[in-house]
Amino acid sequence: MKKKRVVVLTGAGISAESGIRTFRDSGGLWEEYDIMEVATPEAWERNMELVLEFYNQRRKQLLEARPNAAHHALVDLEKGYDVRIITQNVDDLHERAGSAQVMHLHGELRKVRSTLDERLVETLAGWELKKGDRCRLGSQLRPHIVWFGEPVPMIGPASELCTTADILIIIGTSLNVYPAAGLVHYVRSGTPVYLIDPDDPGMAQIAGGTFIRERAGEGTPRLVRQLLEQAASIEK
Ligand code: OAD
Repeated sequence: MKKKRVVVLTGAGISAESGIRTFRDSGGLWEEYDIMEVATPEAWERNMELVLEFYNQRRKQLLEARPNAAHHALVDLEKGYDVRIITQNVDDLHERAGSAQVMHLHGELRKVRSTLDERLVETLAGWELKKGDRCRLGSQLRPHIVWFGEPVPMIGPASELCTTADILIIIGTSLNVYPAAGLVHYVRSGTPVYLIDPDDPGMAQIAGGTFIRERAGEGTPRLVRQLLEQAASIEK
């Protein structure tokens, strides 16, 4: 029997228990840093060193982090479902846990790209990208991140994917940043939607959804067990 498709939309909250800071919680990154100073094309033009330093610190922290129970549970879910992850996260914890299909909406921290030709993307060996590090065409390399004010190239494929979901799971996102937050509206009406978050990021947006008010590391393995039991009982 063809497996049902589960689309999972993840945000910074799924990586919080791996020690990676979220953006908008108290103690979040945007309390300490001004978005406009570190995460926009204008910031890059004005103060490249500060932008590089901001992402170097994030990358350094990522190399020390490990996937947590929530990332691992989503890998287990593949035993019973066709699981497609759409993540706003720039970390690689879904991949390191072993998820087969991961789409990054906002770029990837461990990758850098040419400022001359955005198709020239490479993986950085360590954590540090420096002023003067160049692509093979000779231009400065920049973080492979979608900054505020830049187009989100993967939003088309991501919305398309949402229209094919049999189940949607949303984990650890404040649903504050568009166009990513708008993806929830692309699922077909009547599709079961689950939202896992210790705070309410806006359940009102998700008519008829099930709100699991827990941390990702608790709520995700439990929901995964429940969905796998459902899949097994349908197969019998
Ligand atoms: P936010 O920091 O806006 O939201 C994090 C969400 O995770 C909040 O709803 C928290 O309640 C929740 N959360 C915290 N701890 C959690 C835990 N242990 N388990 C589950 N949930 C938890 O992060 P995002 O929604 O991912 O973009 O932010 C979206 C985008 O804004 C990011 O991709 C980034 C940021 O600016 C760019 O930098 C382009």
